[in-house]
Amino acid sequence: MADGGGAGGGAQRTSTLQAMKGAGEKIAVLTCYDYPTAVWQEEAGVDVIFVADSVGTNILGYEDEREVTMADMIHHLKAVRRGVKHTYLLADMPFGSCDTPDAAVENALRFVDLGADAVKLEGYKVEAFEALAARGIDTWAHLGLNPQIHDGRRLKAKTATTAVRLVKRAQALQQAGAGVLVLELIPEEVGDLVTRRLTIPTIGIAAGRLTDGQVLVVADVLGMGDREFRHVARYSEFSTAGREAMRRYVADVRVGRFPGERQVRHLSARELAVLEAEEVRASP
Ligand code: KIV
Repeated sequence: MADGGGAGGGAQRTSTLQAMKGAGEKIAVLTCYDYPTAVWQEEAGVDVIFVADSVGTNILGYEDEREVTMADMIHHLKAVRRGVKHTYLLADMPFGSCDTPDAAVENALRFVDLGADAVKLEGYKVEAFEALAARGIDTWAHLGLNPQIHDGRRLKAKTATTAVRLVKRAQALQQAGAGVLVLELIPEEVGDLVTRRLTIPTIGIAAGRLTDGQVLVVADVLGMGDREFRHVARYSEFSTAGREAMRRYVADVRVGRFPGERQVRHLSARELAVLEAEEVRASP
């Protein structure tokens, strides 16, 4: 596996996350799309701040993750990078950016040059992982539900046969150089099996309690949208608070309650007197 930062990315190393697995310490990952949220996440002690392609559906108003471009990702990666001082920073390779091993290297290097510590690729792309490892770029794999590949949100690896196939693919990606594996929307028992069979950490989303860490979409954790998912715990109600704040602002402007005395600046008495005299002179 590549040792993080070798290709010029941030300063954090995937080996730190692997040591956490070895020590039985759970890894907390959150998606992040902007500067202020990055600052909060670092303050909160998030282990991995993840600029994910779910920026498309959560922030950009796209219908589908597949609409997200390299330009979109670069814009948000730069914003998040400005807010992250020392936390491990992961960037998602968007749809179509890894269609060949050469394209994967070229696009991953753009993220690494902007300060990503590692990149995540969806799907079973063994040759792309090998090419990235050969260039010293740290990588995360992502199996189970792959929103860039699968339509809908149906449980994956729900039979013994498909679970065994998932384990074999996970092992092959580890062998190809992946340093961490995200597992999405699979039964808890399968998450446990993959986690025990791999030496690299597994990070679950809707994959049960037994993976080495967890990742959630920050908008779901904060309650920013109206989406309801079984795997999510809403730790806040941002959308309720935000809507209420905006409704009160509009009402205050309409009735002249905003701005109030606290928000205004006044002329000094001397300047006011001069201005009033000037006004009298100028009036017909
Ligand atoms: O884009 C995303 O939000 C993801 C999840 C695994 C967190 O890739």
